[in-house]
Amino acid sequence: LFDKFFLNTFSTTVMADVERPELFEFHGVSMTHYFTDNWENVQNFKALPDDILIATYPKAGTTWMSYILDLLYFKQKDKEREKSLPLYERVPFLELVIPNYCTGVEALDTLPTRPRLIKTHLPIQFVPKSFWEQNCRMVYVARNAKDNAVSYYHFDRMNMAQPEPKDWNSFLQRFMDGKMVFGSWFDHVTGWWKKKQTCSNILYMFYEDMVEDTGREMERLCSFLGLSTTAEERESIRGGVQFDAMKANPMANYSTDLVMNQKIFPFMRKGKVGDWKNQFTVAQNETFDENYENKMRNNTLKFRTHI
Ligand code: A3P
Repeated sequence: LFDKFFLNTFSTTVMADVERPELFEFHGVSMTHYFTDNWENVQNFKALPDDILIATYPKAGTTWMSYILDLLYFKQKDKEREKSLPLYERVPFLELVIPNYCTGVEALDTLPTRPRLIKTHLPIQFVPKSFWEQNCRMVYVARNAKDNAVSYYHFDRMNMAQPEPKDWNSFLQRFMDGKMVFGSWFDHVTGWWKKKQTCSNILYMFYEDMVEDTGREMERLCSFLGLSTTAEERESIRGGVQFDAMKANPMANYSTDLVMNQKIFPFMRKGKVGDWKNQFTVAQNETFDENYENKMRNNTLKFRTHI
């Protein structure tokens, strides 16, 4: 989708000319037009019972989870897929609008394979109602706030379809205030967490657990999704979804997406837990911790590595 988007829309445009979008309030959540222009069709999206929704706050490990699930479902069945189909075409982005080209909903409506793996960054209150009516299974990935903020900052620097991040200090302030595309990290992770307490169709996972033991987390996924894979198959997939393997894989590393200026930073940037320590000053860390404790104090959601 993205490379076609670029070829169709930007082929005569120098990357630097692509206008960064404005952030605006949309039903109480900060958004850009790329994710609201098709709102009615997104809200009326007709989910199928076997659809699998991959939900995350941006930069929490969406691509990683998408690739794991894609390989678990299709690696054995469809060898061609791995050679020529970029991940963003295999796992369409529900609410994305590619101007003058295509929407995530259209891509999903024409997707030939089943089950459909569907990417979304929507906060819980915006999930289209058909996903609940059809009892679809949903996999949510959460990442600790500090690493998530750092990853988001670098992403906004290199992705021309995101608002200008400005300097790190002001970005971090906006992150704490929830003035990010798809809103507040705090509202996002806690909104999905609360829903999960009463909804057995949601598997809530952590990026840090995936880094610690990818094989173990893949087993959790398989048991949640009722997938019978052999230990050998899982081990081969585990090798393919390691950071370095994905970074070198043009089907998974977004190298064909020219809206991102990967000369600034590769999309597959570091893939580490605790990278925030290279970015936060002592003062920023203290302010962040205070803000974090205030917002998360009464919450049962606990991250192992938020500080
Ligand atoms: P960093 O910027 O910290 O490196 P998303 O897919 O939601 O946009 O998340 C992107 C983040 O996930 C990036 O984090 C990226 O490097 C990391 N990531 C992607 N694939 C990964 C993998 N196989 N292992 C660890 N981290 C991965």
